[in-house]
Amino acid sequence: MYVQNANAPARKPVTVPGLHAMKAEGRRIAMLTAYDASFAWQLESAGVDVALVGDSLGMVMQGHTSTLPVTLDHMVYHTAMVARGVSATMLVADLPFMADRDLPHVLEAGARLVGEAGAAMVKIEGGAPHILAAIEALTVRAIPVCAHLGLTPQSVHKFGGFRIQGREQEAADRVLAEALAVESAGADLLVLEGVPVALGERVSKAVKIPVIGIGAGPHCDGQVLVIQDMLGITRGKRPKFSKDFLIGHDSVAAAIAAYVADVRSGAFPAPEHCFN
Ligand code: KIV
Repeated sequence: MYVQNANAPARKPVTVPGLHAMKAEGRRIAMLTAYDASFAWQLESAGVDVALVGDSLGMVMQGHTSTLPVTLDHMVYHTAMVARGVSATMLVADLPFMADRDLPHVLEAGARLVGEAGAAMVKIEGGAPHILAAIEALTVRAIPVCAHLGLTPQSVHKFGGFRIQGREQEAADRVLAEALAVESAGADLLVLEGVPVALGERVSKAVKIPVIGIGAGPHCDGQVLVIQDMLGITRGKRPKFSKDFLIGHDSVAAAIAAYVADVRSGAFPAPEHCFN
């Protein structure tokens, strides 16, 4: 039988102020996705700072081709499972597609993911004015928010696929302006996905909140990967920005520990994982 956090190693819980301190002190943040208690416990044991219950679960757990079919009920179900596997690792959960349709839905989603499922923070995609209003509405109610900019997967149809964002000067300037705006709106963390290295660096230097990159280069304050990608069990081709950490390691635990070590040292991402 699964016993919740039975031999939990003594580790100081990761907190919002703790994440800010890590950026201030130049300590890189290791974040990974998890969707159930068993893998959550692997993250906890390996010292992962932040577990993300991403709506990527629509693709890697449910087999869809995008994150769009994921509902709030799905997110609550998976977040509650992950919450039973972590203790010191901070738990962040995604707001699913269209949870931002109006403020009552945003607040309902935040309340369920934090109050019912056990997340410590919720993640929301985009930097449009209604997203800024959502970030403000959540943070004034003491629900910390992780913003998500660049290649935001819920905009897959608008982008015409999962395409690198911010390649042209104007688009890069827009991402930077959005990063400053989500920070001003109250976001405590920012995931920056699928942008050139130079933009990852610009954004990370411009904002005070930690920037967690995924395909955003080595200059971000931390890194996040989808766990299936870093264990080499991607359906189809592994994304360029990812690395199979099971190669050279004989267990899931060792692979996750290697990922944490490489994020902390800056060895990951290497140039071959980056976009220029
Ligand atoms: O849904 C997810 O897993 C994510 C990460 C890719 C950052 O948003």
